[in-house]
Amino acid sequence: MATHETEDYSQPVLAGDAPSDYERYLRTDELLVLQKTPDEWVHRDELLFQVTHQSSELWLKLAWNEAGEAARLVEQGNIPAALRLLQRAAMCLRFVTDQLDMLERMDPWEYQEIRKVLGHGSGFDSPGWNELRRVFPRLGQAFHETRRAAGLSLEELYVRGREHEDLYQLAEALLELDERAQLWRMRHYQVVARSIGDKVVGTQGTPVELLGRLVTKTSFPELWEVRNALTARSKAEEAGEGGD
Ligand code: HEM
Repeated sequence: MATHETEDYSQPVLAGDAPSDYERYLRTDELLVLQKTPDEWVHRDELLFQVTHQSSELWLKLAWNEAGEAARLVEQGNIPAALRLLQRAAMCLRFVTDQLDMLERMDPWEYQEIRKVLGHGSGFDSPGWNELRRVFPRLGQAFHETRRAAGLSLEELYVRGREHEDLYQLAEALLELDERAQLWRMRHYQVVARSIGDKVVGTQGTPVELLGRLVTKTSFPELWEVRNALTARSKAEEAGEGGD
Protein backbone atom coordinates (compact mmCIF):
# COMPACT_ATOMS: atom_id res chain seq x y z
CA MET A 1 0.00 0.00 0.00
CA ALA A 2 1.30 3.49 -0.86
CA THR A 3 2.39 5.40 2.20
CA HIS A 4 1.92 9.09 2.79
CA GLU A 5 5.49 9.70 1.43
CA THR A 6 5.33 7.45 -1.62
CA GLU A 7 1.80 8.18 -2.87
CA ASP A 8 1.75 9.94 -6.24
CA TYR A 9 -0.94 12.59 -5.75
CA SER A 10 -0.88 13.57 -9.42
CA GLN A 11 -2.39 10.23 -10.47
CA PRO A 12 -6.15 9.55 -10.27
CA VAL A 13 -7.24 6.61 -8.15
CA LEU A 14 -10.98 6.58 -8.82
CA ALA A 15 -12.58 4.50 -11.55
CA GLY A 16 -13.17 6.28 -14.87
CA ASP A 17 -11.44 7.60 -17.97
CA ALA A 18 -11.07 11.32 -17.13
CA PRO A 19 -7.52 12.51 -16.40
CA SER A 20 -8.11 13.51 -12.75
CA ASP A 21 -10.12 12.34 -9.77
CA TYR A 22 -11.79 15.76 -9.66
CA GLU A 23 -13.24 15.19 -13.15
CA ARG A 24 -13.99 11.52 -12.45
CA TYR A 25 -15.83 12.11 -9.17
CA LEU A 26 -17.82 15.13 -10.39
CA ARG A 27 -18.36 13.61 -13.82
CA THR A 28 -17.50 16.94 -15.40
CA ASP A 29 -17.12 15.32 -18.85
CA GLU A 30 -20.82 14.44 -18.86
CA LEU A 31 -21.92 17.60 -17.05
CA LEU A 32 -20.23 20.04 -19.40
CA VAL A 33 -21.64 18.53 -22.59
CA LEU A 34 -25.19 19.11 -21.39
CA GLN A 35 -25.20 22.58 -22.93
CA LYS A 36 -25.48 23.36 -26.63
CA THR A 37 -22.19 23.99 -28.44
CA PRO A 38 -21.56 27.31 -30.24
CA ASP A 39 -22.40 25.74 -33.63
CA GLU A 40 -25.81 24.71 -32.25
CA TRP A 41 -26.69 28.13 -30.78
CA VAL A 42 -29.28 30.36 -32.41
CA HIS A 43 -27.90 33.02 -30.05
CA ARG A 44 -24.90 32.87 -27.73
CA ASP A 45 -27.13 33.70 -24.72
CA GLU A 46 -28.42 30.13 -24.94
CA LEU A 47 -25.47 29.25 -22.69
CA LEU A 48 -26.66 31.73 -20.04
CA PHE A 49 -30.21 30.44 -20.41
CA GLN A 50 -29.30 26.75 -20.18
CA VAL A 51 -26.80 27.20 -17.33
CA THR A 52 -29.34 29.17 -15.27
CA HIS A 53 -32.07 26.58 -15.80
CA GLN A 54 -29.87 23.52 -15.40
CA SER A 55 -28.22 24.78 -12.22
CA SER A 56 -31.69 25.70 -10.87
CA GLU A 57 -32.74 22.09 -11.48
CA LEU A 58 -29.72 20.85 -9.51
CA TRP A 59 -30.48 23.10 -6.51
CA LEU A 60 -34.14 22.08 -6.69
CA LYS A 61 -33.09 18.43 -6.71
CA LEU A 62 -31.16 19.01 -3.49
CA ALA A 63 -34.11 20.99 -2.06
CA TRP A 64 -36.71 18.25 -2.57
CA ASN A 65 -34.36 15.49 -1.43
CA GLU A 66 -33.65 17.36 1.81
CA ALA A 67 -37.33 18.23 2.30
CA GLY A 68 -38.35 14.61 1.61
CA GLU A 69 -35.86 13.25 4.14
CA ALA A 70 -37.03 15.92 6.61
CA ALA A 71 -40.61 14.63 6.22
CA ARG A 72 -39.38 11.09 6.97
CA LEU A 73 -37.53 12.34 10.07
CA VAL A 74 -40.61 14.18 11.35
CA GLU A 75 -42.66 11.01 10.84
CA GLN A 76 -40.07 9.26 13.04
CA GLY A 77 -40.28 11.99 15.68
CA ASN A 78 -36.79 13.42 15.06
CA ILE A 79 -37.61 17.12 14.69
CA PRO A 80 -34.09 18.57 15.33
CA ALA A 81 -32.60 16.45 12.51
CA ALA A 82 -35.47 17.50 10.21
CA LEU A 83 -34.85 21.19 10.98
CA ARG A 84 -31.24 20.94 9.82
CA LEU A 85 -32.37 19.61 6.41
CA LEU A 86 -35.22 22.10 6.08
CA GLN A 87 -32.71 24.92 6.51
CA ARG A 88 -30.77 23.49 3.58
CA ALA A 89 -33.91 23.23 1.44
CA ALA A 90 -34.79 26.87 2.19
CA MET A 91 -31.25 27.90 1.24
CA CYS A 92 -31.61 26.09 -2.10
CA LEU A 93 -34.76 28.09 -2.81
CA ARG A 94 -32.88 31.30 -1.99
CA PHE A 95 -30.15 30.33 -4.48
CA VAL A 96 -32.61 29.61 -7.32
CA THR A 97 -34.33 32.93 -6.61
CA ASP A 98 -31.02 34.82 -6.76
CA GLN A 99 -30.10 33.06 -10.00
CA LEU A 100 -33.14 34.54 -11.71
CA ASP A 101 -31.22 37.87 -11.76
CA MET A 102 -28.95 36.42 -14.46
CA LEU A 103 -31.86 36.14 -16.93
CA GLU A 104 -32.42 39.88 -16.69
CA ARG A 105 -28.97 40.36 -18.17
CA MET A 106 -30.42 39.15 -21.50
CA ASP A 107 -31.64 41.63 -24.10
CA PRO A 108 -35.44 41.11 -24.40
CA TRP A 109 -35.37 41.38 -28.19
CA GLU A 110 -32.46 38.93 -28.52
CA TYR A 111 -34.23 36.54 -26.11
CA GLN A 112 -37.04 36.31 -28.68
CA GLU A 113 -34.56 34.38 -30.86
CA ILE A 114 -34.03 31.82 -28.10
CA ARG A 115 -37.75 31.47 -27.38
CA LYS A 116 -38.23 30.19 -30.94
CA VAL A 117 -36.16 27.07 -30.19
CA LEU A 118 -37.81 26.18 -26.85
CA GLY A 119 -40.72 24.29 -28.45
CA HIS A 120 -43.47 23.83 -25.88
CA GLY A 121 -40.87 23.76 -23.10
CA SER A 122 -42.30 25.29 -19.96
CA GLY A 123 -41.42 25.57 -16.30
CA PHE A 124 -44.67 23.73 -15.54
CA ASP A 125 -42.68 20.61 -16.49
CA SER A 126 -39.73 21.43 -14.20
CA PRO A 127 -38.90 18.12 -12.45
CA GLY A 128 -37.46 19.99 -9.47
CA TRP A 129 -40.54 22.15 -8.83
CA ASN A 130 -42.88 19.23 -9.45
CA GLU A 131 -41.03 17.06 -6.90
CA LEU A 132 -41.14 19.91 -4.37
CA ARG A 133 -44.90 20.21 -4.94
CA ARG A 134 -45.14 16.48 -4.21
CA VAL A 135 -43.02 16.67 -1.03
CA PHE A 136 -44.66 19.73 0.58
CA PRO A 137 -47.99 17.99 1.40
CA ARG A 138 -46.13 15.06 3.00
CA LEU A 139 -44.16 17.51 5.15
CA GLY A 140 -47.34 19.33 6.16
CA GLN A 141 -49.06 16.07 7.03
CA ALA A 142 -46.12 14.88 9.15
CA PHE A 143 -46.08 18.22 11.02
CA HIS A 144 -49.84 18.28 11.69
CA GLU A 145 -49.87 14.65 12.83
CA THR A 146 -47.10 15.37 15.35
CA ARG A 147 -48.87 18.52 16.53
CA ARG A 148 -52.18 16.69 16.95
CA ALA A 149 -50.44 13.87 18.82
CA ALA A 150 -49.18 16.56 21.24
CA GLY A 151 -52.81 17.64 21.71
CA LEU A 152 -52.23 21.12 20.28
CA SER A 153 -54.24 23.25 17.90
CA LEU A 154 -52.08 25.37 15.62
CA GLU A 155 -53.11 28.47 17.55
CA GLU A 156 -52.19 26.86 20.91
CA LEU A 157 -48.81 25.86 19.52
CA TYR A 158 -48.05 29.49 18.68
CA VAL A 159 -49.44 30.84 21.94
CA ARG A 160 -47.31 28.36 23.92
CA GLY A 161 -44.32 28.31 21.57
CA ARG A 162 -41.70 28.29 24.36
CA GLU A 163 -43.21 25.16 25.90
CA HIS A 164 -43.15 23.34 22.55
CA GLU A 165 -39.95 24.72 21.08
CA ASP A 166 -39.30 21.85 18.60
CA LEU A 167 -42.80 21.89 17.14
CA TYR A 168 -42.78 25.68 17.03
CA GLN A 169 -39.43 25.66 15.17
CA LEU A 170 -40.81 23.08 12.75
CA ALA A 171 -43.88 25.21 12.02
CA GLU A 172 -41.61 28.19 11.35
CA ALA A 173 -39.30 26.11 9.13
CA LEU A 174 -42.30 25.10 6.98
CA LEU A 175 -43.43 28.70 6.79
CA GLU A 176 -39.91 29.71 5.78
CA LEU A 177 -39.95 27.18 2.94
CA ASP A 178 -43.38 28.40 1.83
CA GLU A 179 -42.21 32.02 1.97
CA ARG A 180 -39.09 31.20 -0.07
CA ALA A 181 -41.17 29.38 -2.71
CA GLN A 182 -43.49 32.37 -2.87
CA LEU A 183 -40.57 34.80 -3.17
CA TRP A 184 -39.29 32.70 -6.07
CA ARG A 185 -42.72 32.89 -7.77
CA MET A 186 -42.87 36.67 -7.33
CA ARG A 187 -39.35 37.14 -8.64
CA HIS A 188 -40.00 34.72 -11.52
CA TYR A 189 -43.10 36.69 -12.46
CA GLN A 190 -41.07 39.94 -12.53
CA VAL A 191 -38.35 38.33 -14.65
CA VAL A 192 -40.97 36.97 -17.07
CA ALA A 193 -42.70 40.37 -17.32
CA ARG A 194 -39.35 42.06 -17.90
CA SER A 195 -38.28 39.50 -20.55
CA ILE A 196 -41.41 38.84 -22.61
CA GLY A 197 -44.05 41.18 -21.15
CA ASP A 198 -47.00 40.79 -18.77
CA LYS A 199 -49.80 40.59 -21.36
CA VAL A 200 -48.56 37.71 -23.53
CA VAL A 201 -48.83 33.91 -23.43
CA GLY A 202 -45.98 31.53 -22.56
CA THR A 203 -44.48 28.67 -24.57
CA GLN A 204 -47.13 26.36 -23.12
CA GLY A 205 -49.96 28.79 -23.75
CA THR A 206 -50.24 30.11 -20.19
CA PRO A 207 -51.10 33.81 -19.99
CA VAL A 208 -48.43 35.65 -17.97
CA GLU A 209 -51.34 37.32 -16.08
CA LEU A 210 -52.09 33.87 -14.65
CA LEU A 211 -48.51 33.61 -13.35
CA GLY A 212 -49.12 36.95 -11.66
CA ARG A 213 -52.13 35.50 -9.87
CA LEU A 214 -50.19 32.37 -8.84
CA VAL A 215 -47.81 34.46 -6.71
CA THR A 216 -50.31 34.53 -3.87
CA LYS A 217 -50.50 30.71 -3.80
CA THR A 218 -49.12 29.11 -0.63
CA SER A 219 -48.44 25.49 0.28
CA PHE A 220 -49.25 25.85 3.99
CA PRO A 221 -52.10 28.43 4.05
CA GLU A 222 -53.00 27.44 7.62
CA LEU A 223 -49.60 28.65 8.83
CA TRP A 224 -50.31 32.09 7.37
CA GLU A 225 -53.90 32.05 8.56
CA VAL A 226 -52.93 31.39 12.17
CA ARG A 227 -51.31 34.86 12.29
CA ASN A 228 -54.77 36.33 11.79
CA ALA A 229 -56.09 34.20 14.63
CA LEU A 230 -53.24 35.39 16.89
CA THR A 231 -53.94 39.05 16.14
CA ALA A 232 -57.68 38.51 16.79
CA ARG A 233 -56.93 36.62 20.00
CA SER A 234 -54.57 39.31 21.25
CA LYS A 235 -57.20 41.97 20.51
CA ALA A 236 -59.92 39.95 22.25
CA GLU A 237 -57.70 39.40 25.31
CA GLU A 238 -56.88 43.10 25.42
CA ALA A 239 -60.58 43.99 25.21
CA GLY A 240 -61.29 41.40 27.94
CA GLU A 241 -58.63 42.93 30.18
CA GLY A 242 -60.06 46.43 29.53
CA GLY A 243 -63.52 45.20 30.53
CA ASP A 244 -62.34 43.86 33.92
C1 HEM B 1 -36.28 34.32 -19.28
C2 HEM B 1 -36.58 33.50 -18.30
C3 HEM B 1 -37.92 32.86 -18.12
C4 HEM B 1 -39.10 33.10 -18.77
C5 HEM B 1 -39.39 34.12 -19.88
C6 HEM B 1 -40.09 32.21 -18.21
C7 HEM B 1 -41.40 32.15 -18.61
C8 HEM B 1 -42.38 31.39 -18.06
C9 HEM B 1 -43.76 31.38 -18.46
C10 HEM B 1 -44.36 32.23 -19.57
C11 HEM B 1 -44.40 30.48 -17.68
C12 HEM B 1 -45.89 30.07 -17.79
C13 HEM B 1 -46.00 28.72 -18.44
C14 HEM B 1 -45.79 28.76 -19.95
O1 HEM B 1 -46.74 28.97 -20.70
O2 HEM B 1 -44.64 28.58 -20.36
C15 HEM B 1 -43.43 29.94 -16.76
C16 HEM B 1 -43.70 29.02 -15.77
C17 HEM B 1 -42.75 28.47 -14.95
N1 HEM B 1 -41.39 28.67 -15.01
FE1 HEM B 1 -40.45 30.06 -16.08
N2 HEM B 1 -39.51 31.46 -17.22
C18 HEM B 1 -38.18 31.81 -17.14
C19 HEM B 1 -37.24 31.26 -16.28
C20 HEM B 1 -37.46 30.21 -15.41
C21 HEM B 1 -36.45 29.57 -14.59
C22 HEM B 1 -34.95 29.94 -14.51
C23 HEM B 1 -37.06 28.58 -13.92
C24 HEM B 1 -36.35 27.66 -12.96
C25 HEM B 1 -36.56 26.38 -12.86
C26 HEM B 1 -38.47 28.59 -14.29
C27 HEM B 1 -39.45 27.75 -13.81
C28 HEM B 1 -40.81 27.89 -14.05
C29 HEM B 1 -41.84 27.17 -13.31
C30 HEM B 1 -41.62 26.20 -12.14
C31 HEM B 1 -43.06 27.55 -13.87
C32 HEM B 1 -44.45 27.09 -13.42
C33 HEM B 1 -45.11 28.22 -12.62
C34 HEM B 1 -45.30 27.96 -11.14
O3 HEM B 1 -45.22 26.82 -10.70
O4 HEM B 1 -45.54 28.96 -10.40
N3 HEM B 1 -38.66 29.60 -15.20
N4 HEM B 1 -42.21 30.50 -17.02
